Amino acid sequence: MELDQLEQDLTEKISSAGAESALEEIRVAALGKKGVISEKMKVLGKVTPEERKTLGPALNGLKTRIADAISARKAILEEAALDARLATEKVDVTLPVRPEPKGKIHPVTQVFEEVAAIFADMGFEIREGPDIEDDFHNFTALNFPPDHPAREMHDTFFMNEKGNGERMVLRTHTSPVQIRTMMNEQPPLRVIIPGRTFRCDSDQTHTPMFHQVEGLVIDKETHMGHLKGTLTEFVKAFFEVDSVKTRFRPHFFPFTEPSAEMDVGYERVGGELRIGQGDDWMEILGSGMVHPNVLRNVGLDPDEYQGFAFGMGVDRLAMLKYGIPDLRDFFAADARWLEHYGFDPLDQPSTATGLSR
Ligand code: DAH
Repeated sequence: MELDQLEQDLTEKISSAGAESALEEIRVAALGKKGVISEKMKVLGKVTPEERKTLGPALNGLKTRIADAISARKAILEEAALDARLATEKVDVTLPVRPEPKGKIHPVTQVFEEVAAIFADMGFEIREGPDIEDDFHNFTALNFPPDHPAREMHDTFFMNEKGNGERMVLRTHTSPVQIRTMMNEQPPLRVIIPGRTFRCDSDQTHTPMFHQVEGLVIDKETHMGHLKGTLTEFVKAFFEVDSVKTRFRPHFFPFTEPSAEMDVGYERVGGELRIGQGDDWMEILGSGMVHPNVLRNVGLDPDEYQGFAFGMGVDRLAMLKYGIPDLRDFFAADARWLEHYGFDPLDQPSTATGLSR
């Protein structure tokens, strides 16, 4: 009678236990060393053999049933806890990314992407080449005569001589990738070439490592008009203005003939630089028709093919467009500077949705 009552009490407690901790308390109170059932077991030694015959199996049965009830209840509670956790930790992969990016895009990367977006719209593809170049690609194939002062003009970083006497250079411009492209691919070509370039120079507007974007178009009838149209269109798109005053000034580059530097009109209003209009001129890139010698050097027939090339300083473009005063800060790795001048990683420059929003 007494055991029946005990079993009923315990079973009720077990089935109403709401947490695993409560269930554990019940287990200790019943089956632990000093639990009620354990205490009753201890009495078995003191009863008569006759009584033990019935009390023994009764107590053992009770113990097993209570232990089973506890583990059954425990399984139910565990499953419920897991369900609750799964419900709160659910991830809906169809939700859009929350716009809370960490970090900023460096202005140089931003400008590379803007330039790529503009030229991609005009059908240009991207090509890249090595930072460490040989003399042939950096100079000779680009029609720099041997020992010509133009080679000095670049303040070249030379590597140590190799066994065969050859000296590799840190490329002084992205133009060697023109050579690589023309030697590896057949015209028509329409490529831009972004990359790092190196010259031994350092002040407020020069750093030993800087960035350029080169352009190259080779086809059969491409002429200076295409050059002017392409670059004017580029400058308008890049500075995000409807019209821009440009001027092409004769210049000299060994690898183009004729060569021209492109100037854009600008004015200063207050402390702000406005590109596009105004009475002042600022040089922003070099360009020209690819020199027949360069075409010959890469195995193209200058009587069949012609085209234009251009090259510009990306860091300078970034300084002009975003009003950044000192070039050296670009490479100072100062997180506060980047926080101020950097761009949102989730904004992809696109000519359709805006380059710099
Ligand atoms: N490579 C020249 C420089 O670094 C820039 C340049 C000028 C590239 C005219 C060109 C070009 O492709 O046609 O100063």
